[in-house]
Amino acid sequence: MKTYKICLLPGDGIGPEIMAQACKVLDALARRFDIGFEYDKQLIGGCAIDATGQPLPEASLEAARHSDAVLLGAVGGPKWDSTDPNQPRPEQGLLRIRKELGLYANLRPVTVFDALAAASPLKPEIIEGVDLMIVRELTGGLYFGMRERFYDEDGSGPDGAKGQRAYDTLEYREYEIERIARHAFETAEKRRGRLHSVDKANVLETSRMWREIVHDIASDYPSVELFDMLVDNTAMQLVHNPGQFDVIVTENTFGDILSDEASMLSGSLGMLASASLGDGVALYEPSHGSAPDIAGLGIANPLAQILSVEMMLRYSLDEAQAADAIHQAVAAVLAEGWRTGDIADADTPADHRVGTDQMGDLIVERL
Ligand code: IPM
Ligand code: MG
Repeated sequence: MKTYKICLLPGDGIGPEIMAQACKVLDALARRFDIGFEYDKQLIGGCAIDATGQPLPEASLEAARHSDAVLLGAVGGPKWDSTDPNQPRPEQGLLRIRKELGLYANLRPVTVFDALAAASPLKPEIIEGVDLMIVRELTGGLYFGMRERFYDEDGSGPDGAKGQRAYDTLEYREYEIERIARHAFETAEKRRGRLHSVDKANVLETSRMWREIVHDIASDYPSVELFDMLVDNTAMQLVHNPGQFDVIVTENTFGDILSDEASMLSGSLGMLASASLGDGVALYEPSHGSAPDIAGLGIANPLAQILSVEMMLRYSLDEAQAADAIHQAVAAVLAEGWRTGDIADADTPADHRVGTDQMGDLIVERL
């Protein structure tokens, strides 16, 4: 029997609640298929700051490095929210683990489960058949450039006014763009062969370089049709005509924003899974945050976390059968009308409105 070592990083807010459902699902898979899972639970985010002073303790990083895959919940919360640049922030833990593990490719699939067509705020005819993949560059760009905040003695304001100044830098090296673009082309080759490269080339120099590099390598992928699209237009097109997209590749920040937007096509941010891939161990996490407003209430949607487990089985563990089983279980449970609050609508009967734990149990029953 094959046993996989999974590093669990539940994090903050709803993280531990949805992670518990993911573990139930893994245990169910272990019973049904001839595989086993060993968990190594570690700290990240605000809880790690409380316990160790660090958002990503070395022990967590080491455990991640020595695992077959990392499953993460979510980080952050009002307790650690501060605009003081000298205070540690939970999000630094997430950014650091992405960087340390070299997870430059973040895959965020947006699929519409048939049963959820009514859950999207968009008209059914707009979201019909939507099936797209956002490939977000994850270890460069605006998130990782030089940044600083300082008091400007120069007094360059109106009437020589002094005050604070701050900057963040958007920087890319050629190889960083080439490798994410190749990843996106390869993804498109295996899908419907359409790739939208999203940038702001009418303003940003990094975008102009991005566009050039993407076009330079396009000839290596003759079966893929390449389109350039400006990021503001993409934001509009995602709600106007999302069916035109197959694969979208874009800069870190643009990808962050567009993926939250695109998640609503699937009904809820609570449905959007993600895989962060590099050359070594990979990390899987829901695209949503720690939702501190509903933490501890037992009402969070665990499906993005569970669908992240599906991606983990597919991409890191090569257990396609088990991955398919999760997908089918989720589809079946949704088809039967079970809904957490975020995907429920006026037609959802009271006896089909469920909490986090019940949704996890329903998926386990189907497995
Ligand atoms: C995401 C999240 C993170 C990001 C935050 C929590 C730092 O929004 O994974 O999309 O911006 O990357
Ligand atoms: Mg985000």
